[in-house]
Amino acid sequence: MYFLLKFAPLFLAVSVCHGWLFGDFVGKQKELDEISLWPLPQKFQSSAVAFKLSPARFQIVYAKESSAGPSCSLLENAFRRYFEYMFGDLKKHEKSRKKASDSDLVELKVWITAADPECDGYPSLQTDESYELTVDAPSAVLKAANVWGALRGLETFSQLVYEDDYGVNNINKTDISDFPRFAHRGILLDSSRHFLPLKVILANLEAMAMNKFNVFHWHIVDDPSFPYISRTFPELSQKGAYHPFTHVYTPSDVKMVIEFARMRGIRVIPEFDTPGHTQSWGNGIKDLLTPCYSGSTPSGTFGPVNPILNSSYEFMAQFFKEISTVFPDAYIHLGGDEVDFSCWKSNPDVRKFMEQQGFGTDYSKLESFYIQRLLDIVAATKKGYMVWQEVFDNGVKLKDDTVVEVWMGNKMEEELQNVTGAGFTTILSAPWYLDYISYGQDWQRYYKVEPLSFPAESRHKDPCVERTAAVPR
Ligand SMILES: *[C@@H]1O[C@H](CO)[C@@H](O)[C@H](O)[C@H]1NC(C)=O
Ligand SMILES: *[C@@H]1O[C@H](CO)[C@@H](O)[C@H](O)[C@H]1NC(C)=O
Ligand SMILES: *[C@@H]1O[C@H](CO)[C@@H](O)[C@H](O)[C@H]1NC(C)=O
Repeated sequence: MYFLLKFAPLFLAVSVCHGWLFGDFVGKQKELDEISLWPLPQKFQSSAVAFKLSPARFQIVYAKESSAGPSCSLLENAFRRYFEYMFGDLKKHEKSRKKASDSDLVELKVWITAADPECDGYPSLQTDESYELTVDAPSAVLKAANVWGALRGLETFSQLVYEDDYGVNNINKTDISDFPRFAHRGILLDSSRHFLPLKVILANLEAMAMNKFNVFHWHIVDDPSFPYISRTFPELSQKGAYHPFTHVYTPSDVKMVIEFARMRGIRVIPEFDTPGHTQSWGNGIKDLLTPCYSGSTPSGTFGPVNPILNSSYEFMAQFFKEISTVFPDAYIHLGGDEVDFSCWKSNPDVRKFMEQQGFGTDYSKLESFYIQRLLDIVAATKKGYMVWQEVFDNGVKLKDDTVVEVWMGNKMEEELQNVTGAGFTTILSAPWYLDYISYGQDWQRYYKVEPLSFPAESRHKDPCVERTAAVPR
């Protein structure tokens, strides 16, 4: 907490609707007598024995026993990155490297223990991010099953380094054993309401890694704009982006975000929210949205995706086939929130369809009809899906591995109880919306939320599953 009071946020996740902010607070400056680790490790023991650390002598190396070595580009990249975080520009040190200076600690040995270090893999919901770190002269040792735990441990090591009164780098004798409380620690960025340049997204990913966040929930399109360039349907961004060339994400931009995130142990989960929140889709795809009526004539405005046309589902099948190959994560977020029924109600064809299906005047049944077909389409691509809570509330039949995201603040605990009671994994975002910030230090309550403060008997009994139950610690 002390840490957070001292440093201003460098990056803010900007979102009007579904943003949640947590932990975008970065501070690398160290002072004596502070335990400035963030987030605090599970087990932490430090002593007043301080070792000098000279950038001219110190190296990050592989332990002899490590299953990963110099051919692991993910770790090579991380070693370079963390060396620079700790000591500044590498080139500057090339000169001073020749002049040997005192260093009590000469190396950090990184020891990957699993047979497959996962150098070329992607992190997942099941990833083991645990690590053990021992700092003692002359060698510190960082032990982790795979590269993902090693990334978290490197972050912790870098946070332990501080400058003494003479400007010399120090690190204290320390023992740490650490693992995350929750398997999903996410930040949502909305790049539709405000287009976010690539470098802003990368800077956010960097800040996330410094705070051990591991999921970038990319709310990439929405009503206002469609910046994602689809290879299958280029007209979506050509007609739906704020600008078809400057305010778009090209296939290579998307690849870069995914790889930059992977290098930092971060999953990228794209959200393509339907049937609501789709005004920008309608610019490029004819007949995708429902025509709204004013009395007996079309009003010229459009509502959610038209659920009564087969062409809507044919479009979704092709579109999500592409999305499932572009994004490597096992999950796609399908949205499903805040569907406004007024346009559907106004449309005589929709009313007729409701009658034929026996839905009466219950438009949530029509919404479920649409979502059900969409889920079947996406399940056929072999991806899992995440949905906003309304989809669960409306009684849509969900695959067992569906993740339900609880975003509404009222009756949050009851909702968590219902979702987990039905056997689903849940992600909680309700308490961490950025637009809850009004004035002063009211953000403190973000840190006081206990995600598991709902009755325990309805939660999963399996502690592994429970670990996946919510957002940050
Ligand atoms: C680190 O060592 C210094 C110097 O002995 C000591 O003053 C300080 O309290 C130690 N810090 C921690 C977090 O143990
Ligand atoms: C839409 O698809 C369904 C099922 O595949 C079929 O029974 C129906 O005739 C189709 N409707 C139109 C208008 O093509
Ligand atoms: C939770 O489930 C109960 C029983 O089905 C229901 O009455 C209640 O409204 C649900 N709570 C929420 C917040 O949806």
